[in-house]
Amino acid sequence: MCVALAVDGTYVGEWIPYPLRMLADLEQAQLEAQSALAASVTTDALDAWKSAWIGGNGRLKSMMMALKDVPKDLKPAAGKRLNELKAALEAAYEERRTAVDASAGPRGPIVDVTEPGVPLAEGCRHVLSRTIDEITEVFGRMGFTLAEGPEVEDEWHNFTALNIPESHPARDAIDNFYMGEQGGVKRLLRTQTSTVQIRAMETQSLPIKVVATGRVYRPDTHDATHYSMFHQIEGLYLDRGVTMSDLKTTLVQFAHAYFGAEAEVRMRPSFFPFTEPSAEVDMKMRIKGEWKWVELGGCGMVDPNVLRAVNIDPEVWTGFAFGLGIERIAMRRYGISDIRWLYENDARFLRQF
Ligand code: DAH
Repeated sequence: MCVALAVDGTYVGEWIPYPLRMLADLEQAQLEAQSALAASVTTDALDAWKSAWIGGNGRLKSMMMALKDVPKDLKPAAGKRLNELKAALEAAYEERRTAVDASAGPRGPIVDVTEPGVPLAEGCRHVLSRTIDEITEVFGRMGFTLAEGPEVEDEWHNFTALNIPESHPARDAIDNFYMGEQGGVKRLLRTQTSTVQIRAMETQSLPIKVVATGRVYRPDTHDATHYSMFHQIEGLYLDRGVTMSDLKTTLVQFAHAYFGAEAEVRMRPSFFPFTEPSAEVDMKMRIKGEWKWVELGGCGMVDPNVLRAVNIDPEVWTGFAFGLGIERIAMRRYGISDIRWLYENDARFLRQF
């Protein structure tokens, strides 16, 4: 047996090598911690016990730090014991906490799940997003796939390739949001989704049957029927031998599927630079019980100049195109009389749809 002597040589008791003493200390610590825990009967006392023993600056932490002084060969045993102690104290704490919380009465953190709660505010899809999904779904069933194009466009896609000449008033600065040049190319916010016709013809192989939906921008003064940003749906079908009757059939099928079997389509002769012949499209739909003609957009047979601009031979390929206003469709369908309500983000308005 070893004897421990103080520096002055007096006998102070048995000398225990440090690692063994550490193990003994751990036993002692466990006893102490457990009796202090048993004495903690309030939430505050439990909190204090937690920080004194198992918290970031607690005793367990300092014992962990002392582990580095234990000789290498004994470290595994001491480390193992320390981990056991840690697990034991944490488990004892959780058990005690549950018991104390349960006795803390209605102010405790126990939740009665049978009690009615505050209902969660549920959002809904914007009426325009819904309309876009519904419309594209109908065209999807007719074999049209979705195409896309950027909202910031160059003059080529917004005008030139669409057979709108340099001198055309549609290019006027007061009718467009020009955004300055990039690499010598004038950019603007697109004024029509017809740009996507060009993009589809540039990138896809023939035949092409696409619809594109998205925002377009025009510097209009805001009132009940005008806004500087709105949405369009564009359609393009390009194949061998496509005719005007295919165009009308497609629009009639859309009207029947979307507005009901009694809906009608009317095409009035018109002019657009990118179609020849061109027509305005009206659809007869039921609005608040009454059947009314509503002007929805334009359509026509793709002008040969447009096909030539994207290197497609107009002697071989023909096609139709159409562009309809989505706000017009949604507003008529749901009886919305002011376009501005669509963008005000007033939840009371939007929740109705
Ligand atoms: N882009 C035209 C507009 O914004 C609408 C339009 C007319 C689109 C005729 C077409 C079309 O594809 O063939 O007013």
